[in-house]
Formats: sequence, C-alpha cells, structure tokens
Amino acid sequence: MNAKRLYLGTNTKMTKTIAETLAFLAGLDRLTVDVAEDALELFVIPSFTTLESAGKQLQNSHIRLGAQNMAWEDKGVFTGEISPLMLKECGVALVELGHSERRHVLGETDDMINRKVHCALRNKLPVLLCVGETAKQKELGLSKETLAAQCKEDLFGVTTEDASSLWVAYEPVWAIGEGGIPATEDYAEEMHAFLRETLTGLFGEKGEEIPLLYGGSVNPQNAMLLLGMPHIDGLFIGRSAWEVKGFSQIIHEAVRLWKGKKHS
Ligand code: PGA
Repeated sequence: MNAKRLYLGTNTKMTKTIAETLAFLAGLDRLTVDVAEDALELFVIPSFTTLESAGKQLQNSHIRLGAQNMAWEDKGVFTGEISPLMLKECGVALVELGHSERRHVLGETDDMINRKVHCALRNKLPVLLCVGETAKQKELGLSKETLAAQCKEDLFGVTTEDASSLWVAYEPVWAIGEGGIPATEDYAEEMHAFLRETLTGLFGEKGEEIPLLYGGSVNPQNAMLLLGMPHIDGLFIGRSAWEVKGFSQIIHEAVRLWKGKKHS
C-alpha cells in the first residue's frame, strides 16, 4: 500500500433508491467522521437519480461523490446520456469509467471509454478507470496483455499533466459479483505491480502517483490482506460495502493498518 494516501470506496450499482442512498450516506458520514482526514479518500458512487440530492447532502462531508458512467460529449443530441457538466452541477467529483458490467453487459468498447476519459479530463472531472481480464483471458495466460491493452487504449492521448486526475481500479471480471472468486492477495499484487509498470511506461514518474485500487469480491476477511500488499493503494468494494456498519468496519481497520504502515 502506498503510504501516502488510502483510497476506499463503493459503487452501489443499481441497488439503492434515493431515500436508501441518502440514509446510507448519512450513516457512513456519521460513522467515519472520526477517521476523516486529507489522506483518506472515501468515496461513494450511487445511481444517477440520487446524485442531485446526494450532492447537496454531502456538501460539507469528507465523502467524495462519484458517478457510475458518463457520455463522451459535453452537450448534444445523445438520448439517455448524462454529460460531465450535468454531473458537476450535482456535486460529482469523480467518474467511474469502464466498469466490467459496462464493458461486458452493456457493450462498451475501449474506444468509447477513451472518448469518455478525454471528455471527463477536459472538464476537470477525475476519472476512476476500471480494468480487468475475463476468466477466459486469465486461463489463456493473457491477463497482463489484457491489462496493458486496456490501459493503452483507454488512456490513449492522455497527457502527463492530466494523469494526476486518474485513478485506476484493477477489477478482474471473474472476481466481481455473486459467484465471483476474489483474487488472492499475491495474484492481485502481481497485477498491480504490472499496472504500475504500464502506467509509468505511459506517464513517466506521474504514473507512480496514480492510485491503484483493487476490486472484486472484497470482503472483511480479505480486505486487510489485499491492503497489506505494496502495490495496492486502496479498495473498490461492491456488496461488502452496501451496509453502512460493515463498510465502516472495513474503513476503520484499513485506516489502522495504513497508519501502522506509515509509521513503520
Ligand atoms: P463486488 O463488486 O465487491 O460485489 O464483487 C465489485 C465491483 O463491481 O466493483
């Protein structure tokens, strides 16, 4: 884990109504105010319909609000799409792009993701880019090739200067959701080290600073093992973070571990 900052967050996918999201955020805010500090990046990425009210509720909070997807243009005739300007208007300060469900269920391509990345960065909206190989790619020994290709295609044309607004999550497709098998900490570490190498290849020393988060069946048992690895800067959690108490416990334990590392 990078001793400088700790990144912990959740994407609530399509699981919470507006009322449920606001209650979740209120509870999370209250239970984590004791660990709030600049070095902890705590973020929640709820559904589009919740963003306006969530943005208002989080105005003075330590929790960063994110969006699950975005269009690749600022404005125009794109039925059903939401632009970065609209997201920012709601108080959104992070956009998640390229989640496995967007790629594999909704058919998003690397070219589309690349256009979205540029649009977000042009609008000064930080990007959380998700990358990860499928079970088939892993079986064929193509994990690293897949990660390199995704980084190179999705981040094609991004300047070194804009690289400071990027976060990357390694989320192997086979690890995500019901029936997913969490990556072991050793496997995740190997992929994170490779991602770090790829990002420094693209952005030089700026690539060293891009936070690398792991996601895919993170649970209270494996969270600290993963965070204990040198190239894992944070966790991007689904199901295990959707109850405030459980998420707060992981956050508190993670902060303790991180503080120990910082002073060791
Ligand atoms: P999960 O989801 O933790 O429920 O596997 C992870 C993700 O999709 O980011």
